[in-house]
Amino acid sequence: MANVERILQEIITSLKSTYGHEFFNSLNLQLSKHIGADYTFIARLNKKTNTSKTISLVAKGKLAENFEYSLKDTPCADISDDSLCIFPQGICELYPDDQLLQDMNIEGYVGTPLRDSQGNMMGIVVALHEKKIENPDFAVTLFELFSGRISAEIERTEREQELQELTKTLEDKVKERTQELSQAIDRLKQTQQEVLAKEKMASLGALVAGVAHEINSPLGVAILSGSMIDETAKEINGKIIDQSLSKQELQTGLANIKQSITALNFNLQRAAKLVDNFKQVAIDRNTDDIRQFTFSSWLDSLLSSLMPMLKKNNISLQMHLPEQPTTITTCPSKLAQVISNLVINAVIHGFPEKANLVDKKLTFTLTEHKQRIILSIADNGIGIENELIKHLFEPFYTTKRGQGSTGLGLSIVRNILTGALRGSIDITSQVDQGTKFTISLPKKIEANSITEIEEA
Ligand SMILES: Nc1ncnc2c1ncn2[C@@H]1O[C@H](COP(=O)(O)OP(=O)(O)O)[C@@H](O)[C@H]1O
Ligand SMILES: [Mg+2]
Repeated sequence: MANVERILQEIITSLKSTYGHEFFNSLNLQLSKHIGADYTFIARLNKKTNTSKTISLVAKGKLAENFEYSLKDTPCADISDDSLCIFPQGICELYPDDQLLQDMNIEGYVGTPLRDSQGNMMGIVVALHEKKIENPDFAVTLFELFSGRISAEIERTEREQELQELTKTLEDKVKERTQELSQAIDRLKQTQQEVLAKEKMASLGALVAGVAHEINSPLGVAILSGSMIDETAKEINGKIIDQSLSKQELQTGLANIKQSITALNFNLQRAAKLVDNFKQVAIDRNTDDIRQFTFSSWLDSLLSSLMPMLKKNNISLQMHLPEQPTTITTCPSKLAQVISNLVINAVIHGFPEKANLVDKKLTFTLTEHKQRIILSIADNGIGIENELIKHLFEPFYTTKRGQGSTGLGLSIVRNILTGALRGSIDITSQVDQGTKFTISLPKKIEANSITEIEEA
């Protein structure tokens, strides 16, 4: 007994902190040594294929390469039927069709089933002897002692492997998804850029169309005045040639010419001023520069380019500006984008054509409050329902989808205001009464702060 105790002690010591393959191999080496078998192996069964695959194989005291074999006609198949198998001798005669036993010249056989935690057969531990087994009971005892531990370890390693595979699959999935996501984000960024550019172009387009239209009328008058001068000069010239020009006719002719020249000059100057204004607005729109300017005259220039659109829609402008001109230091390109967006929105959404509104007014009110200016732009159009107001500033929110609207206007307006311009925007609206946007801006923002803010 003392001997058995010593052997058990040795086996247990050898297994200390071993797991998986190391555990199976250490235990197998110990079993083989103490049983004195020529071959010992621990094998995992595969019921579906009726095969068995060794997890650890010891041949003549040394670890050997694992192999898989068919259970058909083998004593292992009988263990698989769940019973202990002990054949101290003559195994080859009992299993004449087991080629492996024949080839290896095996005489004695001891096998014990391994059961999983549900009690199902999952494997076997086997000892093969080339000679008759003298003490098969000892081998059986050892096998039975350790079979539970072996089964538990097989289950554990298999779970661990499953878990590793699962983790790997998950990691791969996460990688794949992350890549998909980052591609989606890239595409989104690109689309965003395109949409932003489109929105910018759209408001610039409205300005260009407005300016072209606005310049057209003074140029028309100028051309007309030019041909009037031409005609009058020809008429006078003809009369000089046939010597029929009276003093009265000359005076009337000259007065006509003078009047036409006045009109010509006036209208050419007006056209030049418009071009000038537009140039300013256009330059402003293409730079992020902060500069100091007089708000009211700057607003005039901006509005003159929007005027044709307002006129075409019979919208009159009401201006409530302080008597003292207000000087501000801010980024005019961004401010112009904000104001033209709000004006265009009023025209399109506040005064839709199909509403057939009359006495349409757009009122600008500018006040100063401490170091800020407060500008409100109010239309007396159709207004907005209360529940919708909270969505207006959301990107892509529009009530005119499919009609050329992107729904980005107000979201850009708010971004510009709260970001680059360091201001804020508020809205009040009542159905059938109109909508008022109120923007508040610092009178002065520091140069360079725009880039800083945008990068932050
Ligand atoms: N002055 C206004 N009067 C009535 N509705 C307005 C006015 N301004 C904006 N809206 C509403 O807010 C929505 C969002 O505006 P915006 O962000 O500029 O997008 P978009 O002009 O492309 O529709 C509009 O679709 C419209 O329903
Ligand atoms: Mg808009």
